[in-house]
Amino acid sequence: MLPQELIRKKRDGRHLDAAEIDAFVRGITDGSVTEGQAAAFAMAIFFQGMDLDERVALTLAMRNSGSVLRWDHLNLPGPVVDKHSTGGVGDKTSLILAPALAACGGFVPMVSGRGLGHTGGTLDKFESIPGYQAKPDRTLLEKVVKEVGCAVIGATDDIAPADRRLYAIRDVTATVETIHLITASILSKKLAAGLDALVMDVKFGSGAFMPDYAKARELAESIVTVAEGAGLPTVALMTDMNEVLGLTAGNALEMRECIDILRGGKAEPRLYEVTAALAAELLALAKLAPDVATGRAMFDEAVASGQAAERFARMVRALGGPADLLDAPDRYLDAAPIVRPVYPEREGVVAAIDTRAVGIAVVALGGGRTKTTDPIDFAVGLADVAGLGAAVGPAGRPLALVHARSEAQVEQATAMLRRAFTVADTAPAAGPLIAERIG
Ligand code: URA
Repeated sequence: MLPQELIRKKRDGRHLDAAEIDAFVRGITDGSVTEGQAAAFAMAIFFQGMDLDERVALTLAMRNSGSVLRWDHLNLPGPVVDKHSTGGVGDKTSLILAPALAACGGFVPMVSGRGLGHTGGTLDKFESIPGYQAKPDRTLLEKVVKEVGCAVIGATDDIAPADRRLYAIRDVTATVETIHLITASILSKKLAAGLDALVMDVKFGSGAFMPDYAKARELAESIVTVAEGAGLPTVALMTDMNEVLGLTAGNALEMRECIDILRGGKAEPRLYEVTAALAAELLALAKLAPDVATGRAMFDEAVASGQAAERFARMVRALGGPADLLDAPDRYLDAAPIVRPVYPEREGVVAAIDTRAVGIAVVALGGGRTKTTDPIDFAVGLADVAGLGAAVGPAGRPLALVHARSEAQVEQATAMLRRAFTVADTAPAAGPLIAERIG
């Protein structure tokens, strides 16, 4: 069937079968479907939606548009697992989770993305390590996954190329925000990594990709059902992004925070809890633990014993980074020349945070990008970021420490943070950090 006939069918609210979806996706991949047709297809889905069978078919077709990693020939003595987050500000769970899962018997080829807009990207955090090779060839990737148990890497061009083209078209045609397309987009890439089990961290709140709880929940449900339909056991946790996760936002700063935790430093409780909960769910789902409570105990032990740190160090070394990064992070990670506290204009407690605006302040410092081609300054960002309910004041605790290159940047970040934080007399009612488990 001609692409325009498929578009017409979807436009009119009719069901597309798997062969039709597959043909359209092949056309997106080989270029025979034009940009206009792909945009019209996305807009038709935006208005008409897709039923479960269509979403599974779209996900599988996009997965099959490129290489699909396979691990069976390596005879790994454990399951291949991963976590995916819908993204947040200061979301650094992967840095602890990947090596901890490896220490618990999982094999984690963690294909990560770069940050874009207000959310940070795991890949950028790893690229703050000098020498770290985020795009190893297949032989090295397999070696590291087999011998170390985890490899945090970037997606290669041959992973789900149909998604890459369609996403770029959606981005400029106001068709990103549709749960059906987001589901297929996220899962096509995860399925291409050849996983046995997946845990999803679906964030809600002011710093989330989907701030509205009901919408984020709908996305989580869609991802879990489509993943199961595509044969990938998946559980999702709904986690709060109404404040920065952990104490820092900015690439090298977040790397330092996680190295400190891996080396036995005290973790910011929200960051630890989210990471531990995701790990526990995944260990149980992948049958590395008999239940979630045991999974949690295994994660705690992996971090507390230093086994997660040891995996992290081996992964960094195997992928070209310094062998002693964990012992001497300051020798390797960039540091900004200026560190300045930002105080609120009045004394009180943090009553609300526009976390998205905090993320944008990091981008404005140079720590993120607005276009995929923007360079990143790994050194800049925010540290000691105040959470909801923290007592702050002009002569007391600052809202955050700004790590910047110039005084002009400090001034800009100060104004942005003061707008992002609402300081009042009373603390807000605390909402749940992990609101729900779906799956
Ligand atoms: N992230 C993705 O990978 N795809 C989307 O469509 C939205 C967010």
